[in-house]
Amino acid sequence: MTSVIDRREDSAVAVPVSWWRDAVIYQIYPRSFADSNGDGMGDLPGIRSRLPYLRDLGVDAVWLSPFYASPQADAGYDVADYRTVDPVFGTLADAQGLITDAHDLGLRVIVDLVPNHSSDRHEWFRRAVAEGPGSPFRDRYHFRPGRGAGGELPPNDWPSIFGGPAWTRTTNPDGTPGEWYLHLFAPEQPDFNWDHPAVADEFRTILRFWLDLGVDGFRIDVAHGLVKAQGLPDLGVETQWHLLDVGVSPCFDRDGVHDIYRSWRRILDEYPGERIAVAEAWAPTLERVAAYVRPDELHQAFNFSYLGTGWNVADQRRMIDASLAAMRAVGAPATWTLSNHDVVRHTNRLLQADDGDVAGRRPTAVDPVAGLRRARAASLLLLALPGSAYLYQGEELGLPEVVDLPPEVRQDPAFHRAAGQDGYRDGCRVPIPWHGDQAPYGFGPDGGPSWLPQPEAWAELSVAAQENVPGSTLSLYRAALAIRRSHPGLGAPDNLRWVDGPAGVLQFDRDGFRCTVNLGAGAVRVDRVGEVLLASGPIDADPDAVTLPADTAVWWSR
Ligand code: NOJ
Repeated sequence: MTSVIDRREDSAVAVPVSWWRDAVIYQIYPRSFADSNGDGMGDLPGIRSRLPYLRDLGVDAVWLSPFYASPQADAGYDVADYRTVDPVFGTLADAQGLITDAHDLGLRVIVDLVPNHSSDRHEWFRRAVAEGPGSPFRDRYHFRPGRGAGGELPPNDWPSIFGGPAWTRTTNPDGTPGEWYLHLFAPEQPDFNWDHPAVADEFRTILRFWLDLGVDGFRIDVAHGLVKAQGLPDLGVETQWHLLDVGVSPCFDRDGVHDIYRSWRRILDEYPGERIAVAEAWAPTLERVAAYVRPDELHQAFNFSYLGTGWNVADQRRMIDASLAAMRAVGAPATWTLSNHDVVRHTNRLLQADDGDVAGRRPTAVDPVAGLRRARAASLLLLALPGSAYLYQGEELGLPEVVDLPPEVRQDPAFHRAAGQDGYRDGCRVPIPWHGDQAPYGFGPDGGPSWLPQPEAWAELSVAAQENVPGSTLSLYRAALAIRRSHPGLGAPDNLRWVDGPAGVLQFDRDGFRCTVNLGAGAVRVDRVGEVLLASGPIDADPDAVTLPADTAVWWSR
């Protein structure tokens, strides 16, 4: 069978130009998507069996969080072997089959690449520790003697993002206390030394390995972290928050990272079909983020500034404008995200934003009806913006954050390291409900386990419960994605024009299309400007006007 996405030069199937500029990319968190073998963990065969669902949903591509060989100290973001599939998730043949099946269905596949750190079980790190001081493998990481008379203090004052110091002391082969090594995340995630040529060579080879297997791109984990300041100088500040916030950090967003991405771009461009890379780059300003997507670097960068924007007209409009302007300056498309595996689901977070917790690090319970209403309006707004949209699995079902997981089931390493920045990420990682009245709701075989417990209320949120049900969140997403594909105004790049509206209303046109969102507290009446294509919730329409309740969005054709 000829693949719908065909790489052959002589393919009869045309490869669309710059498919990624307005692509809708669906994030799959493999351990929580679909479990084929009943061990309670999702896996690649499970994902493969559900690809038709994603085709029917109408997304263009999937991004898979890591499925490589890993002790799972950070849910796979601790990679022990970059060219092997962890047995928990399947085999390399499963990965190959998944890529082929996805292409046959017209879906592209983006995989996660974790270049800032490896697992402490990676061959290089194990040898570095086992061989003791002087091992050439130590130069591939950041090993240093400690400070203090007996080397008992960490080499510098950097804190780990997950809490505690960013350094762990090793034990020498003879049992004496040894050097320390750097880990910006968990101790099981030692940072690579990107000044070492072997590290750069290795990652170029890893890129080619997956490109040869047919992947369409990479999501680059901690893309802003690879290069550290020479000499690893002290931060000189007390709290870990400053690790991210300071303008010129010794460990993040160093100018040197851009040379790495230029060399990666040359590799991506060697392959047919526009293979892409998207940066997870937490830089202090949108302009600094835009530097990652200059024409000779990566293709996209996540827009975390937008994700953290409050639910009000002024902030939304300002951030949308700023995002478009920053990306326009470098010729890159803007990207938009509301949820991912590291943040509180936007069903909860956008209401929490009312309390000032815009970043949504700590989930709190919210009124589920109000939370879903706002989330649906926000999703229609997101999907109407020019550029590329990233969806996180389960948001199309309106899944809420699970806020009451008992500590003993939680696996986020930051939760157990206490006070870490990202300590509450399990609540957005609860496995997907597919069908049925009882957990695991088709996530795995009937009666089987799931690595995190699913709430009882999820029976009515399952795919089967929402499929073909008018007004369901799944139906809303399907309809929105179908309109996004077919409406010429939504296909055109960078054509957003603001339209003034009543207080609390955000409105913009895109060549024959209008999006109107009521972010205010009460209902508003707006003049009818054309045919209503879609609404995120119930609206009142008469021949001249439409009344939108609070937290409701409407798409019009003009
Ligand atoms: C960002 C990933 O999204 C997150 O899940 C992970 O814990 C850190 N990077 C470290 O790899």
